[in-house]
Amino acid sequence: MRRFFVIANWKMQVEAEEARELARETVRLWAAQGAANPAVTVAVCPPFASLDEVREEISGTPVSMGGQDCFWESRGAYTGEVSVMSLKDAGCRFCLVGHSERREYLGETDGMVRKKVRALLDTGLIPVVCIGETREERESGRRDAVVIGQLKAILEGNRPIGSQEVIVAYEPRWVIGTGQAVSPEDAASMHQLIYDTLEGMFPSDTVERQFSVIYGGSADAENIGGFLRMPVIDGCLVGKAALSAKGFVRMAEAAADIAKG
Ligand code: 13P
Repeated sequence: MRRFFVIANWKMQVEAEEARELARETVRLWAAQGAANPAVTVAVCPPFASLDEVREEISGTPVSMGGQDCFWESRGAYTGEVSVMSLKDAGCRFCLVGHSERREYLGETDGMVRKKVRALLDTGLIPVVCIGETREERESGRRDAVVIGQLKAILEGNRPIGSQEVIVAYEPRWVIGTGQAVSPEDAASMHQLIYDTLEGMFPSDTVERQFSVIYGGSADAENIGGFLRMPVIDGCLVGKAALSAKGFVRMAEAAADIAKG
């Protein structure tokens, strides 16, 4: 049976009480179905300041939680940063790293993302490694080279060991927040390229068992089915459409239907 990840990135769109409400509603709508559909992992990534409120709503339910970023050092004089251990303590199972908004507004580089991935793996959290090209990179024919370059810079030599898992999120930067996703065929060809690149870096059984590749960029309840029917697309990372619990849970339901075959 296929296994899917449907992960919400709430970005900086909610404050604590709104995050609590959104988490509560997401849990209410997904609880019974999630318990019946273990092939679909549903997670929400709230802003740091709402982690406690969200944890109270999701604990003991089939909804997991992730951070939106982390720092690579475990402790020290790093004003404003958040350690992986504190995310773990707060109840996180996942953490996004390298999101294009952080690359664009905060100067996050592949080198930084690489260190964050290591810190997450060492602490037992699942990194959700965001990569993807800009419109300019795509239009100038550099799409594949950019994506392969990001993957290698972040993951080469950064092998998940034991039961560690890594999720790669392919998010073409130019469709994020536009309401215009790329076609499932387009996304699938990039996911295939990502899998082929991973195969060049790690043994096949590591890639098969420890890596998943999910799609992000204007994914919603209407288009998710087209993406998930592609065998190389293992889930979705969802921004705007996840700010409606109903819409987001419809996406998880679509994943559950496809997982059942
Ligand atoms: P949208 O779904 O709003 O395009 O956002 C995607 C995203 O950035 C998820 O990380």
